Amino acid sequence: MSGRRVPPALSLLALLLAPGGAPPHLPAGAGPGPCDPPVPGQPAPSRDLYCIELFPTDPAGPAHGTAALDWVPGPFAVSVTPDGTQRYAVSFDLAQLPPPPPGPRPGYVAWAAPPSLQPELRLGTVRNGRTTLGPVALDRFLLFVSAEPDTLAAERRGPLLLRGESAGNRLRPPDLFQFALGAAGGGGAPDGHAHHGGPDSLGWTGVPMPPGLTMLPAEMALRPGTPAWLPDDDPSAPAARPAAPIRLRPGDTLDLVAAPVRRQLAGRWCTMFAFNGQTPGPLLQVERGAEIVVRFTNRLPLPSTIHWHGIRLDPRFDGVPGLAQAPVEPGATFAYRVRFPDAGLFWYHPHVREDIQQDLGLYGNIFVRQADSAPWGPAHREEFLMLDDLLVGPGGPVPWGRDTPTHAAMGRFGNLFLVNGEPAWHRRVRPGERVRLYLTNAANARTFNLSFLPGVPLRLLAADLGSYAEPVAVDHVVLAPAERYVVEARFDRPGRYALVNRVRALDHVFGRFFSRTDTLGMVEVRGPRAPRLPALPGTAGLAAAREQARFLERLREAEERTLELRVQFTGLPFVAERLMRLDSIYFMPVEWAGTMPGMNWSTSGRQARWILRDPATGRENHAIGWRFRRGTLLRLRLVGARDVLHAMQHPIHLHGQRFLVLAVGGVPNPHPVWKDTVLVPAGGTVELLVDLGNPGPWMLHCHIAEHLGAGMMTTIDVEEE
Ligand code: C2O
Ligand code: CU
Repeated sequence: MSGRRVPPALSLLALLLAPGGAPPHLPAGAGPGPCDPPVPGQPAPSRDLYCIELFPTDPAGPAHGTAALDWVPGPFAVSVTPDGTQRYAVSFDLAQLPPPPPGPRPGYVAWAAPPSLQPELRLGTVRNGRTTLGPVALDRFLLFVSAEPDTLAAERRGPLLLRGESAGNRLRPPDLFQFALGAAGGGGAPDGHAHHGGPDSLGWTGVPMPPGLTMLPAEMALRPGTPAWLPDDDPSAPAARPAAPIRLRPGDTLDLVAAPVRRQLAGRWCTMFAFNGQTPGPLLQVERGAEIVVRFTNRLPLPSTIHWHGIRLDPRFDGVPGLAQAPVEPGATFAYRVRFPDAGLFWYHPHVREDIQQDLGLYGNIFVRQADSAPWGPAHREEFLMLDDLLVGPGGPVPWGRDTPTHAAMGRFGNLFLVNGEPAWHRRVRPGERVRLYLTNAANARTFNLSFLPGVPLRLLAADLGSYAEPVAVDHVVLAPAERYVVEARFDRPGRYALVNRVRALDHVFGRFFSRTDTLGMVEVRGPRAPRLPALPGTAGLAAAREQARFLERLREAEERTLELRVQFTGLPFVAERLMRLDSIYFMPVEWAGTMPGMNWSTSGRQARWILRDPATGRENHAIGWRFRRGTLLRLRLVGARDVLHAMQHPIHLHGQRFLVLAVGGVPNPHPVWKDTVLVPAGGTVELLVDLGNPGPWMLHCHIAEHLGAGMMTTIDVEEE
């Protein structure tokens, strides 16, 4: 990641975050880091996961210290390499280091090494006090501080003074008895396969096991405790068609019908759902400031609604059952009046049993154009890509839970990757083309780490609700459920470029990290060179910077609140409970792949209760009851609790409003942009500045569909004065 240029908004942010009451090395307001002394009311990232205690060797005497595994500032709330390895900036805080041995350049050097101790990576020189080095990109590692006669030497020669290990290094094959009981290789075929046998009394047969995993027989025997549900096979339903763009003018009325369609998945025809027979639903294109009417007809066998994700509309048309409207029953209609005050990339989906309805294909994009025709300068081509993953077995989609979601632990990870509903997205472009990609993550649970292989230069132009002050150069895009990015890709050289999701996964039984690369599509670059485009900067950046500055200037008047992200489990089978307990010795910042498939699948929304908790009152989910006056600025701290049976990342979404990410893990964000969804890493903290400018009752929830289905939601009331 480069993005070294400092946008105007950053200098402003730096100015506003000038030292105040917080510890001296921290900008006031960014919040404490994982090794810092606690500050009341300001949650810190988990000390256990993100702070390494450094222990002295004999020659070190009274020397001691800590190493904080900090966020590497960048456009994404989680910092990884293109291949998916977590990256940390390491902040050493050292004291009472003894005098170094004499030499040409005496001093202290910090090193990092994998558990094999080879190679030892020189991080840089350190001293008594604080030094930030790195980044370090290793799954698990040891840190050393040595005293050196020559601090510029490439290899360690002097005595070791301090050492410590990362939390990931605690993972060990958990229990030999379990191996004796017969841990088994789970997947075999690249796509995994279900274990067979007739359905049980609730209609479940099995769930596909991802390849590369170790499974315990007791885990493979688990089944969900809720009846299995699939849409009735409907051979008369039409075959799904690709999304067609629709241009809508102010005052236009659009008919949207949700109904069954037929889709070919992994070689067989399945009954799925679609808006207007299209997968994804029609791409709605409107101009900023427009208002339209959408007449929704529900021809599904289930009640439904439409939610207009990210749009600051009238709350009566927000599509949340019980808050904005009653669910639209099968056969009924509802008219939504939707206004579009912001330019950007949005999407629509049902807000009833998202784990089923969205997964079956009910989602579509909305692109709100700025009146200005080229807010980001010219491009050769625009592509709208809705990314998804579907869980399919040999007989089609794995059933959903009828009364409550399955997969209520980690969320339903799929094994079939889809771009715009298709497993093999493909485009041909000319060498030299600048392609603008509009990316939306419509998956139930999966966070993608996207890049092209071989790599192509990418620039982020905009996120959820608006533009960056300046484009941000990146080599990969982290896209959590419901997040959107507008990305420009430059394909200079002929060849084939795979669009891939590259992540690190964890085999929980063996405590072993491994790589996964999923191919979502292919761009073929050939033919005559594309005409050169003028390098116009566009107008969106400057306007965005100005607008952000108006809010950042008022940071000091913001009201402050905190929400903790937690979970409680009840009535888990013995083996699931034991597996989770063993697993809780370490949590990855992001769970990128569903690597406890049986345990996860069998946990229902009745066994897991995901929780938003206000630590100031102890109230949870619907009981939180926050009220604000319209126009309030809210400084909202989201903190992923570590002291739970299963900590993981949560993509937190606030309806009807917008926010800037001020800091992640106590480190100020150099790339503020208006967003409506943010990924909170496991055991991590994210600080937001929320613009509560739109009156109404608004939902705040986790966008992992199964977490939402297991209670992880609250309502914020924004009242007219
Ligand atoms: Cu896209 Cu309440 O969600
Ligand atoms: Cu969640």
